[in-house]
Amino acid sequence: MNYVPVMPDRLLAFLVLARLAFAVHAVCADEKPMMKAAIAHEYGPPEVLKFEEMPRPEPKEDEALVRVIASSVNPADPLTLSGKYAREWGTNLPLIPGYDIAGVVEKVGPQVRTLKKGDAVYGYPTFGGGWAEYVTVKEWEVSAKPKSLTFAEAAAVPMCALTAWQALVNAAQLHSGQTILIHGGSGGVGSFAVQIAKARGARVIATASTANQDFLKQLGTDVAIDYTKTKFEDVVKEVDAVLDPVGKETLARSYGVVKKGGIVLDLVARPDPAELEKRGIRGAAIWVRPDAKDLSEIAHLIDAGKIKPIVTQVLPLSEAIAAQRQAETHHTRGKVVLRIADEPKN
Ligand SMILES: NC(=O)c1ccc[n+]([C@@H]2O[C@H](COP(=O)([O-])OP(=O)(O)OC[C@H]3O[C@@H](n4cnc5c(N)ncnc54)[C@H](OP(=O)(O)O)[C@@H]3O)[C@@H](O)[C@H]2O)c1
Repeated sequence: MNYVPVMPDRLLAFLVLARLAFAVHAVCADEKPMMKAAIAHEYGPPEVLKFEEMPRPEPKEDEALVRVIASSVNPADPLTLSGKYAREWGTNLPLIPGYDIAGVVEKVGPQVRTLKKGDAVYGYPTFGGGWAEYVTVKEWEVSAKPKSLTFAEAAAVPMCALTAWQALVNAAQLHSGQTILIHGGSGGVGSFAVQIAKARGARVIATASTANQDFLKQLGTDVAIDYTKTKFEDVVKEVDAVLDPVGKETLARSYGVVKKGGIVLDLVARPDPAELEKRGIRGAAIWVRPDAKDLSEIAHLIDAGKIKPIVTQVLPLSEAIAAQRQAETHHTRGKVVLRIADEPKN
């Protein structure tokens, strides 16, 4: 008699479920993890920005993937989006703006040495990408987040503080006993520049409009000038350095207040060689770049209580268009931050 094996009901059910689970797993493995991002598929005004779900980026061998908790807004964002400087700044479409990030390392490529999963970092991805739930970074673009700051506060720091640091410390080597004139001392870059100059023992003269005079004092400015009422060259003489984020007429009038051997640091124009030579002064056109070592020194100063970011507004990512309109005014006090995710619990 032939023996026909009969499968018990429970074993049959188990095999069916196991097969189903395998099929579901195979489908999921094919699906790329997604993320929310503010993205532009064409260059134009802030309104070209769309809020979409898109595949999460994968870090290359020498990159880390960062889960972004917060980003911030710079006047450079609407300029990047306009496409005007696409060639010079190396930007391509589609484009996710956002040069500032604070977040948590999610994953690292095999060549990454200084970062590991779970690290809290802040920094400046060279080509932006911060207005998204995830961004890939190189090791030299980020550093350990200042411990004393929330992620939202830390996101206000990188691009502006690096600009001020690379101008005042790296280019001018500003030191104790010197005097600096900082135009636009109440803005993103200016508010860091005033504090960095004070931390280095310099005397600070800063300009801003009427509404920001008390704020300049709170930042530590020794002499605050209201540029809407007073011509700075009438009261400023013989300074060691000028930081100019305004350009044009403000730059043209600045050469004359610098002492021989002093320096004009310009963020928006190239100082005129003829003016520099005529007066025996130096000039530098500052071009900010990501630098993990500079970010680390800035973090130390922040944790030592010497400087702090001034966050005037925290907006959800969905407000990125309005935030760029504000950045275009060139009259922002401190920084506007974009919240991408909730602050991690610890
Ligand atoms: N070269 C680089 O690598 C680099 C890096 C970062 C930024 N930037 C550029 O530097 C500029 C400043 O950036 P930011 O982030 O500091 O901008 P921001 O946050 O908009 O600040 C602008 C500041 O300029 C002041 N201001 C406006 N008109 C002025 C005038 N006529 N005289 C004196 N102060 C004036 C404003 O003060 P009130 O509001 O009181 O008027 C405000 O304090 C932008 O053009 C940006 O694109 C260049």
